[in-house]
Amino acid sequence: MVLEYVDFLKNEGIDVFLDETPVDKTAKPKKILNSSEKDIEHVEIKEESTLDLSKVDSLSLLRETIENFKHPLKENAINMVFARGNPDKPKVMFIGEAPGQEEDIKGSPFVDAAGQLLDKMIAAIKLTEKDFYITNVVNYRPDNNRTPREEEIKAFTPFLEKHIDLVKPDCICILGAVSLKALFPDVGGINKNRGKWLSFKGIPTIATFHPAYLLRFSEKKREAWEDLQELQKKIK
Ligand code: URA
Repeated sequence: MVLEYVDFLKNEGIDVFLDETPVDKTAKPKKILNSSEKDIEHVEIKEESTLDLSKVDSLSLLRETIENFKHPLKENAINMVFARGNPDKPKVMFIGEAPGQEEDIKGSPFVDAAGQLLDKMIAAIKLTEKDFYITNVVNYRPDNNRTPREEEIKAFTPFLEKHIDLVKPDCICILGAVSLKALFPDVGGINKNRGKWLSFKGIPTIATFHPAYLLRFSEKKREAWEDLQELQKKIK
């Protein structure tokens, strides 16, 4: 029986066994993706359901829409992190990067050490509770607190834009390179643009260093303070 089987294989031209499972050598080879290509492919699949936010006309609906948005970042996150502060035409809307571990646990943005520094920065320019609102570009914590990838930023930016539309702040303060890139993809980096007035859909917008960066490079606090003073002048 076994010999008959071997003869059968020989007749089929099969004379070498490389693996237990058969391999179709005539099939078109699959492209081996590097890690960034894998991410792009991953997100493209998710983007098949095109986002239509035209009917999202309230913050509660926006929150619900983000909660229902199927995205890989959601898989490892505990909470969706939406915003904190006054959502009704605040003087300043601060926009950070993405929640970290503490924000993920508490479901609120900027509650970690960087958040405490941000609160001090806000108090230093005499803004009170009713004057500001804080959110992030990305609403779910990226694993290991890594910087969100370009595809992730692109996936969440439409929500951020809608968020700004609904909150209608007098000014926007961008915190760091990620939110600068999300709202102004073509202007260049944070060092070049910090402290300058830009316009996001007609809203005066200024960028400064991210508070987490300031915690690491305290010599940059002087420049951040100049940016904040510029912001304070504008909202007076
Ligand atoms: N860093 C951010 O960009 N956002 C947070 O919410 C916390 C830290």
